[in-house]
Amino acid sequence: MALEMNLYLPLILSALMPIILLYFISLIHKNNNNGSYFGKKKKKKILPPGEMGLPWIGETLEFYRAQKKNRIFEEFIQPRTAKHGAIFKTRLMGSPTVLVSGAAANRFFLSNEFKLVVSSWPSSSVQLMGRNSIMEKQGDRHRSIRAVIATSLNSAGLEKLVPKLCSSVEDHLKTHWVGKDTLSLYRSTKLLTFSVVFECLLGIKVEDGMLEMFERVLEGVFAPPVEFPGSKFWRAKRARTQIEKMLVEIVRKRKNEMELEQNIKGGGGGGGEEDGMLLSRLIASLIRGEISEEEVVDNVVLLVFAAHDTTSFAIAMVCRALAHHPNCYQHLLQEHVEIMGSKKPGETLTLDDTQKMKYTWQVTRESMRLFPPIFGSFRKAIVDIDYQGFTIPKGWKILWTTYGTHLDEDIFKDPLSFDPSRFEEPVPPYVYVPFGGGPRMCAGYQLARLNILVFMHFMVTRFDWSLVHPDEPITMDPLPFPCYGMPINISPKTS
Ligand code: HEM
Repeated sequence: MALEMNLYLPLILSALMPIILLYFISLIHKNNNNGSYFGKKKKKKILPPGEMGLPWIGETLEFYRAQKKNRIFEEFIQPRTAKHGAIFKTRLMGSPTVLVSGAAANRFFLSNEFKLVVSSWPSSSVQLMGRNSIMEKQGDRHRSIRAVIATSLNSAGLEKLVPKLCSSVEDHLKTHWVGKDTLSLYRSTKLLTFSVVFECLLGIKVEDGMLEMFERVLEGVFAPPVEFPGSKFWRAKRARTQIEKMLVEIVRKRKNEMELEQNIKGGGGGGGEEDGMLLSRLIASLIRGEISEEEVVDNVVLLVFAAHDTTSFAIAMVCRALAHHPNCYQHLLQEHVEIMGSKKPGETLTLDDTQKMKYTWQVTRESMRLFPPIFGSFRKAIVDIDYQGFTIPKGWKILWTTYGTHLDEDIFKDPLSFDPSRFEEPVPPYVYVPFGGGPRMCAGYQLARLNILVFMHFMVTRFDWSLVHPDEPITMDPLPFPCYGMPINISPKTS
């Protein structure tokens, strides 16, 4: 028996050898993957604390409920921050999501766009804004489209923009304010910002029915992407098709004109950008073959979306704050009376005049601190991210919000009180973020600023006004707006 064993042992061993080898290879492989063997341990990945709630739904309903009341901070973020800390996980609209708060988190996630995260929009927004808009572009493609937008808003561009803004605002007030006793301020500023983007920025004349078409698209931007007849998204998609048709015609016509101009002048590559209008710049890039027709069209739609509800809500909230704080109103009015006094009759405002509107801009900043037109936005992790001792797995969403710093009492003393003097001195970076930050910071910041300042100038110097409902509630769907459209009583100024 022992002899038999001696004879068979080498045979048994050689038969088992491949299995033994496989076993050792698998041990080594396991060691490389999780460091749990041979003493070399990899750091354990810890997810942020928080509750994921029910499958898919997670805490979406709680989030929507708080959003509807414009109380995301008080009813969603604050209780969870108190329980879990400034970074916590949840599940929103089917996606595991990490909410982050604080200036350090803003800096980390906003400045690491394209490296660790990319912006992440709901499917309905992407379908309606178009896959070729700047919000869907990454890296170099994003940079080159942004550069075209930026050249229209550089200092030479802004210099030209101010007189155009003045005439748009004056025309608007003449047509929609003069002769009226009451009007919806929010509706009026929406109409105005729509024509400002088209006529002052893009150089496209607003025709009847255009605003309604765009508003139908905007209504579907955050709606569930279900396309059954009659649904918000279905209506929005149909309006988008109409807009696309109209814009393609405008783009082709302008492209032909620019090519003709270029042929007459001689030289290749397209021209006609001298009017400084963004549409001409986009089309010049199209002629040079740097961007496609779809990119031109999708970015026009995106710019309208980005500018429309944001600027009009910001103006509405400035007026609300002024109505609630008569001392601030007197101070602001004085600023504009002095600027007006420095002008000859009929002389238009200049970029220099807008630099003098320092207090008006402080009021606007304070108002956007408390009522940010965009409360925050989503990013998606493109790699596993280690942050503050936690791991945010690749594919998870990250939601940064303005509230995390705007309402932090360590940063803004007595944060719920309205005090424009907070902005007499500069605030540290990534603390005040109504326009976001990093590579995706608002590309229309300068236009929004000038639009608000110029509008306030003409409103307060030409009209006396008061709110019909001083405590009108603000709701969100999903962007904030005054529930009743902010009706105001107006009368022309007599002196
Ligand atoms: C008070 C008014 C406005 C506010 C509060 C605002 C706020 C913002 C914020 C927070 C972002 C960043 C979103 C993110 O990080 O995901 C953003 C991006 C953007 N905004 Fe604005 N915005 C305003 C007006 C405008 C206007 C007037 C325009 C242009 C006509 C504009 C064009 C854009 C564009 C193109 C982007 C995307 C930038 C990119 O992806 O690189 N915005 N805005």
